[in-house]
Formats: sequence, C-alpha cells, structure tokens
Amino acid sequence: MCGIVGYVGPKQAYGYLIEGLFRLEYRGYDSAGIALQNGNQIGIRKKTGRVSQLAEICKQDPIKGSTGIGHTRWATHGEPSDVNSHPHTGGNGEVVLVHNGVIENYSILRDRLRELGYVFHTATDTEVAAHLVAHQLKESLKQGADPGDQQTYVRAVESTIKQIKGTYGLAVLFRDVPGLLIATRLGSPLVVGIGRGEYFLASDASPLVGNTEEIVYLNDHETAVITANSFVLRRQDGTEPTMSIRALEQTTQDTDLGEYEHYMLKEIFEQPQTIENALRGRMDDDEATAKFGGLNLDPQTLRRIDRIVLTACGTSWHAGLVGEYLIEEFARIPVEVEYASELRYRNPPMSDRTMIFAITQSGETADTLAAMRECKRKGHPTLAICNTVGSTIAREADGGIYLHAGPEIGVASTKAFTSQVTVLTLLALLLGRMRHLSHPEGKRIISQLRAMPEKIRQTLKCFDKVKEVARKYYTAENFLYLGRLYNFPVALEGALKLKEISYIHAEGYPAAEMKHGPIALVDENTPSVFVAPRCEIYPKVMSNLEEVKARKGPVIAIACDGDDKIAHLADDVIFVPDVDEHLQPLVTSIPLQLLAYQIAILRGCNVDRPRNLAKSVTVE
Ligand code: AGP
Ligand code: GLU
Repeated sequence: MCGIVGYVGPKQAYGYLIEGLFRLEYRGYDSAGIALQNGNQIGIRKKTGRVSQLAEICKQDPIKGSTGIGHTRWATHGEPSDVNSHPHTGGNGEVVLVHNGVIENYSILRDRLRELGYVFHTATDTEVAAHLVAHQLKESLKQGADPGDQQTYVRAVESTIKQIKGTYGLAVLFRDVPGLLIATRLGSPLVVGIGRGEYFLASDASPLVGNTEEIVYLNDHETAVITANSFVLRRQDGTEPTMSIRALEQTTQDTDLGEYEHYMLKEIFEQPQTIENALRGRMDDDEATAKFGGLNLDPQTLRRIDRIVLTACGTSWHAGLVGEYLIEEFARIPVEVEYASELRYRNPPMSDRTMIFAITQSGETADTLAAMRECKRKGHPTLAICNTVGSTIAREADGGIYLHAGPEIGVASTKAFTSQVTVLTLLALLLGRMRHLSHPEGKRIISQLRAMPEKIRQTLKCFDKVKEVARKYYTAENFLYLGRLYNFPVALEGALKLKEISYIHAEGYPAAEMKHGPIALVDENTPSVFVAPRCEIYPKVMSNLEEVKARKGPVIAIACDGDDKIAHLADDVIFVPDVDEHLQPLVTSIPLQLLAYQIAILRGCNVDRPRNLAKSVTVE
C-alpha cells in the first residue's frame, strides 16, 4: 500500500511531488509527507490526514529543493500520526527515505540497531530501514569508502535491503549528496519517468502523465540510481539489467473527475464504454467464438485443459465466481475460485493440464501476486486478467487479457468488476467453442454481448429510483443481499460495496441459504436486497422472498423490466433490462453499486477514500 513519488532535476521538485501525491492518494491516505533537498539540507514536512493538509502546511511553511521524495501512507505498523508519517530519517539525519511495504523482521533489526546506539522515534517498521542505511554508510566510510563516490551510497542501500525480510519500495535521499535519488523494490511497484535532464519516480504511472512520455518499470531486486543527468539500473548481484523503456499510454483525461462529484460515480457511469472496450476486437462472428491477442497459448494447449483455478481477492474474487459458473456451463471444465491469500499457502492438487488465472484490477495485489508466483514455481501456465498495463502481475504472467477499463481510482471497484465479468464470459465462450458449445449458441452469446453496452446505458437510468430507495433505508445498520445462481456472486459484491463505503454491516448469501441461519437476522429494521431477475429458478427465488416478507423484513428487489409480480411482493423494486441469464451479473451489479454509493453519500461518508482501506493492497 501507499504511494511514493520522487524527483531529480533542475526545477523545484515541490510541484511534481505534491501533484503526484494527489494522484496517488487513492493508494493510502492515513498521512502524507515530503522531503526536499536543498544543498546539504533536507527539509521535511509531514502530516496525518490528506494530501491537501500536507499542501496546507507546506504553504504556511514552505521548503525548497530540486531533489525530493514524497509519500502517502496506509499504515501497517504504528498508528496514523504525524510522527509515524513518512519520510523517515536515519542516523543523525544523513539519510531520509520513504517506504511502501512491510519489513517483517523489523523488531530484530530494531533491537540490533538500538544496541548500536540508534534512537527510534516512531512506531513504524520503516524507521529501521532508515537507520540501517545510515549505519551501513557509516561503517563503509569508516572502512575507507570514498564519500565522494556515488557507489558508496548505492552499496549502503544494497547492503540494507539484503538484511530486510518482507516487501519494500524505497526511495532514499542522502543529506551529503545533493541531487542523488536511489530507489529500489521488492514486491512494491515503482516506475521511473524519463524527462529532459530530469527524472520522475512514482508508485504507478499516474503522476507521470503530463510530465514525461517514456517510462521504465522497476523489477523486483532492481535498484535505480538517479541524478539529473543519469539513470542507471542495477541488480543486487551488481549487474546492470537491460532497461526496457516503454511509452506512457495514459492521459490526464483518464484521471480527471469531469462532471462527476466522485471517481466512484464516474467509474460506474463509464461502464457502457468500459464493457465495449473489453469486447473490442475479441469477438469472431464467423467462428462464433472469442479471440485474445495475449493468451500466448496454442489451441492444442487450450483444448487439453481439464481444470481451471481462478485466484483473486475481494471484488476480483467475486468476478471469479461468476467466471466459474460461466466456464463450467459453457465449457464443462471444472473451475475452482481460490482466495489468493489462501492459495499462496495451500498446496491443492494440480496437474500439467490445470490452468491458473489471476484476476486483478491493479495487478499489484500482494496476495494475488504471491499466489501466482507459487503456481508458476510449480510449473503451471499462469495467466492474468488484469486492468493495469505494465503492472507486476501483468508483466510476470505467462500471458493474459487486459481489461482496457482505464484507471480505476475509486477505492470501491466498480467498472473493473463488470470488465472482468465481460472478459470471463469471452474466455468461457472461447473454451466452450473448443468443446461442446454449438455455433448457434456461440452466436447468441456474441449478439447478447454486443448489445451489452446499450443495456448498461439503459440500466444506469435506474439511478433516480436508487436515490429514492437509498433515502428510505440509509439509516439501517444491517443489510442482507440475496441472489441465486449467477446472481449469488452479485449479492456478495453488492454487500461488499455497501460495507466498504458506508460502513454498514452487510452479508451476501445464496437466497436459499437464508433459511439455514441468516434468516434469524431478519426483522423490520433489516432490509434484504433480492437480486431477482427472471431466471430458470425465478419461482424459487420468489419463495425465498416470501419467507423474508413473512418475517416482516423490508425487501428491495432488483428485477427485470415489466416484472409486475415482484412489484406486488417487494417494498421497493429497481428495474433493470432483461438479458440472457448468463449475462445478468453485468446489469444486476450496477444498481447495487449505485445503491452503495448513494447510501454512503447520505451517511456523509467519503466514498472515494473509505476509512481503513486503500486501492491496491501491496502488503500481505
Ligand atoms: C473492491 O471494492 C475492493 N477495494 C477490493 O476488494 C479489491 O477488489 C481487492 O483488493 C483486489 O484488488 P485487485 O483487483 O486490484 O487485485
Ligand atoms: N509499513 C510502513 C508503515 O506502516 C509503510 C506502509 C505503506 O506502505 O504505506 O508506515
């Protein structure tokens, strides 16, 4: 978690750093801080809370410098407080650094450093790294290393990271070497932007937009040594890897709010377009199947697959559940959906015919990355369904499918979910058409998919009705979300959205599971949201709904246009267009996203920056 920025060049660094932190704020917002180097002095400003609060104190008490680093924190060790905010200093202030990740062996290192006389001022794991760099530097200078040689400082960082267990993205300044920035990573992302006589550092590409067009992603175990006129990459073994310079594809428009009040709302309303982007060029009408450019698997291998494991976290895991239903139904291949945090430590039986897909919006989720690496280590082809181009998971996967949904900034994932489901539908179609799915069936799925952006446009018209429903129920303290078959994962996702941004306790269940326990929660103050569009077992869902009504539970139904029956039973109905059962999650998830949004607004919650959360979870 957290966002890092850095700058070396001829200009004042403050502008880039603060703007970059604003753009990275979605990664963590417990506190923010910057350090600017001016000659042999490093000024630090840091503050609990939002980047705007940091900007405020910098306005009142400015610092200057053309080399600098910055950080937005998502606390793992030590409460959010001014003192625990990054940057942290090491030794007597000769080292200043920011850190993204977790130093697992920090207490052993801290004890050792304390014995050596280092004084700790914070409760963070990070401070250990700062003192350790200072200590390594002091030791090597004592042994005669040249203080005028850049390598002395590089080696201090390198010998520090050798002692660290855990994950890190580090950006380090040295008080006595103005204009030098050293950045290194293991597990936490870092990207360098190449300018003219200047370099930019960031945790992801968004701060670089408008500043540079060429970028270099750091790989694990790589260290970037940057000055205004040089940028060298080194591996821990001292070798220099070949630098892969890429074009920056993002634009500022992708990250602007436009006419919307919040990113979440903007992203919900982008879904007709993002679904179209996920489909573009991937439907083959003649063969009635799907095609992907980046799977890197020949048809023979695809035909041999006899088991699929989908692994992910949170919302992406819910998309995986929809994928399971789709793939099993279209292609008859057994699918398991594994929480990445579990899979990474489990050892389920897999054969050389098992295919693994990691599903992730950010491409940086630590658990998903670890699960993917574990599967790769065991020799299984491991692919990614990912939104963020150039992310670690996208780069490390053997192949994959991009969502092309554009940056998702709202912490609550919305458009990524529907894009993931769209891509999984295409994947199920491709695998199905290689097996028993007929040409006419394939054609029908394609034509339904093609109609989807328009259906989503129609679905979004329910927002007014959603607002009305939200006004009625926003004070409730518990919600149940219920759905069956394809709409069971939608119920889980609806509940997660509500929990995340409105802090209301919500549970998602298969509607028929209710009677095995959760129905005990039903009373007149606990609304149940039934995701109940027309489907094979619609009458059975209606019986579940009656069971709730019989216990005086208020019912909000998500139903197909023209469903008069449900209108009589439920207290409130939000109508969505009628689509093929397999594709219903694409439309039924949308009113639930809007409902969570509107309830959070009415409760005065910060929808884009919910408490305790961060957008990409790069710690375990
Ligand atoms: C979604 O609303 C959540 N913020 C979260 O569950 C998220 O889906 C999860 O952390 C996985 O993220 P990823 O898709 O970037 O891997
Ligand atoms: N572990 C560090 C801390 O708690 C860094 C967390 C982060 O990545 O923001 O301060």
